[in-house]
Amino acid sequence: MNMRLDKFLTQSSVGTRKVVRTYIKDGLVKINGQVKMEPSIEIDEYFDVIEYLDKVVEYTEKVYYMFNKPAGCITARRDKINKTVFDFFNNDSSKGIFHVGRLDKDTEGLLLFTNDGEFEHKLMYPEKHVEKTYFFWALGSLEEEDKRKLEQGVYISKGEILTKPAKIKVDKQGVYKDFKHEIYIDKLNNIDSGQYNQAVVSGYLTISEGRKHQVKRMLKSVGCKVVYLKRISIGGLMLDESLEKGQYRFLTDIELEKLFE
Ligand code: URA
Repeated sequence: MNMRLDKFLTQSSVGTRKVVRTYIKDGLVKINGQVKMEPSIEIDEYFDVIEYLDKVVEYTEKVYYMFNKPAGCITARRDKINKTVFDFFNNDSSKGIFHVGRLDKDTEGLLLFTNDGEFEHKLMYPEKHVEKTYFFWALGSLEEEDKRKLEQGVYISKGEILTKPAKIKVDKQGVYKDFKHEIYIDKLNNIDSGQYNQAVVSGYLTISEGRKHQVKRMLKSVGCKVVYLKRISIGGLMLDESLEKGQYRFLTDIELEKLFE
């Protein structure tokens, strides 16, 4: 099989696409003993000998999947009681892969899978500040002061440090009866007609950390109880809304780069 030299080096964890291109142009990469300076040159990843700084680069085929997680399954390989996210993958696709981060059992949306440990590290390491955006519906209301607190940092548990700066955007706000026909609100099971004036709010919260139940706990700290949560983006990568819940597909090269934008 043939592939571009820069893609081969990126997939083999030598560096990002941008970085490996500079290595190639700087003459640090050899193909079958000869320096080649064109990133787009085609190589055979199984038969050609590729060296970077005179060390042979072993080819490992990396895979990256986008999965649209449905509510009701847990982010784990196996579980005695619950359905897991791996139950949605066929046996061949799930070999050697793991999930990148976690979503709660009742959270839906974008979850990534890979066999690339370095990729996971780059995405999950808090110092990398990769932003994740969640859409939510919550019981309660968000005033300017609450939004300011969420953006600047809140204490979500005793003994824990302040959350890092976040972004909040309110989408809809009012009382339950005004939104009861909306699909997400229909999922509320603890509201009956006697509570039609219950305050509700929907919006987008963007965070760059991954503490346990972070979105729910942040919103709780300003008096809102999350009743629906969906992750819609990681870095510059949006959930492909044409993926049905429970479906997965490979990420494209462009999407992979978008993740770290
Ligand atoms: N924050 C939460 O509270 N739950 C999730 O599943 C993800 C982020």
